[in-house]
Amino acid sequence: MVKIMTNYALPELANNVHWVGVKDWNRRLFDALIPLPKGTSYNAYLVQGTKKVALIDSVNPGFEKELESKIKELTDIGDIHYIIMNHAEPDHAASIKHFMELAPDSILVTSEKGAKMADIYFDVPADRVQVVEEGDTLDLGGKTLRFIKAPWLHWPETMFTFLEEDRILFSCDFFGAHTAFGFYDDDDNVGELLYLAKSYFGEIMMPFRKMGQKGLEKAKELDPLLIAPSHGPMYRNPGKIFDVYEKWTAGETKEKVIVLYVTMWNSTEVMVKTIVETLLSENIEVCMYDLTTADLGDIARDLVDSRGIVVGTPTVLNGMHPLAIYAANLFKALRPPTKYAVALSSYGWGGGALKQLQETLEPTKIEIVGALAVNGPSQENDLNTVKELGRDLAAKIKSDK
Ligand SMILES: Cc1cc2nc3c(=O)[nH]c(=O)nc-3n(C[C@H](O)[C@H](O)[C@H](O)COP(=O)(O)O)c2cc1C
Ligand SMILES: [Fe+2]
Ligand SMILES: [Fe+2]
Repeated sequence: MVKIMTNYALPELANNVHWVGVKDWNRRLFDALIPLPKGTSYNAYLVQGTKKVALIDSVNPGFEKELESKIKELTDIGDIHYIIMNHAEPDHAASIKHFMELAPDSILVTSEKGAKMADIYFDVPADRVQVVEEGDTLDLGGKTLRFIKAPWLHWPETMFTFLEEDRILFSCDFFGAHTAFGFYDDDDNVGELLYLAKSYFGEIMMPFRKMGQKGLEKAKELDPLLIAPSHGPMYRNPGKIFDVYEKWTAGETKEKVIVLYVTMWNSTEVMVKTIVETLLSENIEVCMYDLTTADLGDIARDLVDSRGIVVGTPTVLNGMHPLAIYAANLFKALRPPTKYAVALSSYGWGGGALKQLQETLEPTKIEIVGALAVNGPSQENDLNTVKELGRDLAAKIKSDK
């Protein structure tokens, strides 16, 4: 029977392979942390073989009905035999239980760690789970799914699924971007896709760069015709995302400094603006963010390839300003490839911000090229010291290729 699709756009990636995901246009925050200026999508895919039907990943809680309706335009829900869980995070996996109930004969297919998480998070009984190892395949009838270990992209249980006949790589979070716009990388309305993909990489994948390198290698070996991630558009041109991931996972940095600062009465700001001018005059690319208004997505994106960082904070209650504490801890957690730091501070009486900053950054092994704390507003000699620090930072950055 020919299916007439009227209610939804369900792009057909290949014969009998459809996108059945949902677009969350209005979501503005992810993981209670990450800004979503363009919303996001939860991409799920339906693969229909001549013998069996598989659903690859599912959707965020709250969108079960929409996914259900989309699948019904293609097949009966009860026909689903396999539900592939590439990742156990609830944005892809929380509605799996709902579909396992609607399709009582269905089996959850996931990694060993995924099986444990499916039990803990979603109460999926072990007798309905099939654990797959590297290279295992499932034959759906003319459609063969192969499973590839890809741990820590983004949690320990993550894996890829590869549809052999159509050479489609379902990479889940890896290669994703938070945007609801567009279906494919070459759609007109996804012009800034790599910009969004870079923020996403900084926020989600940067802490796991080594695993990212391995995942990228495996993805390239598969030589996919299409990359179908679980957030954002699919890549009809895999080379486009491979090329940037090559640099980002390798931690390739530029002659670039990210400046993160906060100021209450402008003393720190004067120091920061002085070093920015020095760096610019040394032909260093600079991106500067006032932490009171900065967007985490912008910071994460610029951390992906900044070789240096300047942190500016006044002393507040014997330590850093709370926004600088946040930024320093974020820096530590995201593990960017940034190698050199300069710390600038103004204080009123005892100081203490720089000590706390140095303690916070200590485990990152970043080289602190220099630090300066000034009592109150900077005098000319203080600003000369700031300029020297700027030249020292620029020299370090330029000598490090
Ligand atoms: C709420 C608050 C708490 C402060 N706590 C300290 C402190 O514990 N130790 C200190 O040396 N200075 C403290 N100061 C003084 C500031 O560090 C000082 O005014 C500094 O020059 C401000 O730099 P800014 O102009 O960049 O905001 C505090 C100031 C404020 C407003
Ligand atoms: Fe995730
Ligand atoms: Fe996700």
